[in-house]
Amino acid sequence: MSGFRPELWRDVVPDGAPRDLAGFNRDIRGAEGYVIPGTQHDAVLWLSGSAYDVIFDESRQAMATLAGLASVAEETSSWPYRHDRDLTGFIDGTENPSLLDAAKVLVIPEGTPGAGGTILLLQKWVHAATRWESLEVVAQERIIGRRKEDSSELDPKPPESHGARTDQDVFGHIFRRNMPYGTVTNHGTIFVGFSAEQGRLSRMLESMAGTVDGVRDALTRYTTPLTGAYYFIPSIEAIGRFLTEPAAGA
Ligand code: HEM
Repeated sequence: MSGFRPELWRDVVPDGAPRDLAGFNRDIRGAEGYVIPGTQHDAVLWLSGSAYDVIFDESRQAMATLAGLASVAEETSSWPYRHDRDLTGFIDGTENPSLLDAAKVLVIPEGTPGAGGTILLLQKWVHAATRWESLEVVAQERIIGRRKEDSSELDPKPPESHGARTDQDVFGHIFRRNMPYGTVTNHGTIFVGFSAEQGRLSRMLESMAGTVDGVRDALTRYTTPLTGAYYFIPSIEAIGRFLTEPAAGA
C-alpha cells in the first residue's frame, strides 16, 4: 500500500484527493500539557506478509527503485501478537466493521475528489509497559472500557476510558489495527487507522488528548505518541495512471 502527503498528491493530481484533507501539520495540544505530535513525511509504503525475509527483500527492492527520488525518513517493522491482541494484552479490533462493511467506512465515495481512495492516520505510540503491567486487570479494564478476556464492553464505560473517548457512535466509524513494534525493552503500538473522512480520525485524537473538554483518555497516561502523519491512499486505478512502460530492450 502506498500513500502520499495530501498536499503533495494534490500538487500532482489536482482534485485527486478530498479538498479539506491536510497533512498532520500541527501538533495537537491537549489537557495538562499533553501533546500529540505531527511528524508528517511525504509518502508511506506499507508492505505486509507472513515471511519477514520476503518483506525484507521487497522493501530493499522498493528502496532501490526509488533511489534518487526519495529516501527513507523512518522505518518500522511489526509482528502479530497472541493472535489478535495488541501490546496492552487486550483484543484489538472488536469494534471494527466486518471486512464486508469496511469499504463503506473507509473508501471515499464515487463522484467526489479522491474517489476509491482512503485516508490513513499512522502513529507510533510507545508504551510504559512496566507501569501498565503492574496495574490490576480490573484497573486496565476501566482504562480500556472493556474486559480483558473477551473484549466485552463495560456498562457503563468510565467517561475517561479509551472506549468512551473514541466512541464511534459519537465520532463516526473508522477501520483500524494496532500493530506491535519494538524490542523487548522498548515497544509499543503502531496505530493504523483508515477512514473516508479525516474529521473522524482528527476528532478522536483531540478527544483522546482532552483538547475540547479537558478530559484525557486514560490510556494516554500509559502510552505516549511519538509520531503522527496523515496520508492519502489513492485507488489502484489512480496510481496506475503513473505506470510507465519499461524502455524497449530494458
Ligand atoms: C497506543 C495506542 C492505542 C491502543 C493500544 C489502542 C487499543 C484499543 C483497544 C484495546 C480497543 C478495544 C477493542 C477494539 O474495539 O479494538 C480500542 C478501541 C478503539 N480505539 Fe484504540 N488504541 C490506541 C489508539 C487509538 C487511536 C489513536 C485511535 C483513533 C484516532 C483509536 C480509536 C479506537 C476506536 C474508534 C475504538 C473503538 C471504540 C468503540 O466504538 O467502542 N485508538 N483501542
